[in-house]
Amino acid sequence: MLKDSFGRVATDLRVSLTDRCNLRCSYCMPPEGLQWLPKPELLTADEIMRLVTIGVERLGITEVRYTGGEPLLRRELVEIVQRTAALTPRPQVSLTTNGIGLERLAAPLAEAGLDRVNVSLDTLDRDVFIRLAHRDRLADVLSGLEAAHRAGLAPVKVNTVLMRGVNDHEAAALLRYGMKHGYQQRFIEQMPLDAQHGWKREDMVTADEILAMLGKEFDLTPADPRERGSAPAELFLVDGGPYRVGVIGSVTRPFCGACDRVRLTADGQIRNCLFAREESDLRTALRSGASDEELAERWKAAVRGKRPGHGIDDPTFLQPSRPMSAIGG
Ligand code: 5AD
Ligand code: SF4
Repeated sequence: MLKDSFGRVATDLRVSLTDRCNLRCSYCMPPEGLQWLPKPELLTADEIMRLVTIGVERLGITEVRYTGGEPLLRRELVEIVQRTAALTPRPQVSLTTNGIGLERLAAPLAEAGLDRVNVSLDTLDRDVFIRLAHRDRLADVLSGLEAAHRAGLAPVKVNTVLMRGVNDHEAAALLRYGMKHGYQQRFIEQMPLDAQHGWKREDMVTADEILAMLGKEFDLTPADPRERGSAPAELFLVDGGPYRVGVIGSVTRPFCGACDRVRLTADGQIRNCLFAREESDLRTALRSGASDEELAERWKAAVRGKRPGHGIDDPTFLQPSRPMSAIGG
């Protein structure tokens, strides 16, 4: 098992397949993009599968989520999903994506064994999308969402980061859109993970504000907290239910105490937290001939040293040097 010194057990593995992306969401990347990881440093599909297999077979990983950057840009994605779903015990396999390319890939991915998707959608307005993501791709995201729903990748979850003066007037419209299409809408507080280090606490739209905005147009009642488990989203019944909206108060309502995640970056580093300051290099060990046993031991040691929380409110808080796109969501 992957247990830390506070008794938390990591069962949810998030694997970043690439740090590249075809969008430039302002809370993540500058418009000109970033210096991408050099190809030789990226794990190959076989190397990814070796580590994922160790996680599932030896370390108690029960859910594998592929992320990026944008994971649909990774050519071997369908093959990786298929090989992951073929492991024993079979893990849940999910994907966090910006949706661009899902129109074509949702059905083959579902066929390969993908169980669920989370799609980022911050606006329903083409001009706001262009302003926010610096690309004119809203139509691709919306058709990708539809394709995911049609392919049965249920529940399709939609992630929205609200930003003051940019898209915060769209909260109710996004929720209505999710209800109409059968997507589970979730609002996420913006975290200090952008490559530009431009995050300011005052700019963050907080969980309280999100609930107040939605509360003007909908009747929200907290769902049974047992439904939440270790999931970051607090769920609220909308207008008496059964539809539920999620609010993820990563900063103001941290859920680190129930965290069951561990991350593998596209270049083969284990991170025990989004905000970790240290990583554990599995790639070098793997490429210099380490056994499964040795890799598992290194991985366990990396999780053992996990801090109790993200510490964003600590005066000593330091934003991680890797941006979100190179960590994985
Ligand atoms: N704060 C909060 N959420 C973020 N995401 C990306 N960067 C941030 C950030 N700084 C979200 C994306 C996507 C998921 C990977 O995380 O919107 O849905
Ligand atoms: Fe790309 Fe996701 Fe970053 Fe947006 S948040 S630029 S979609 S990696």
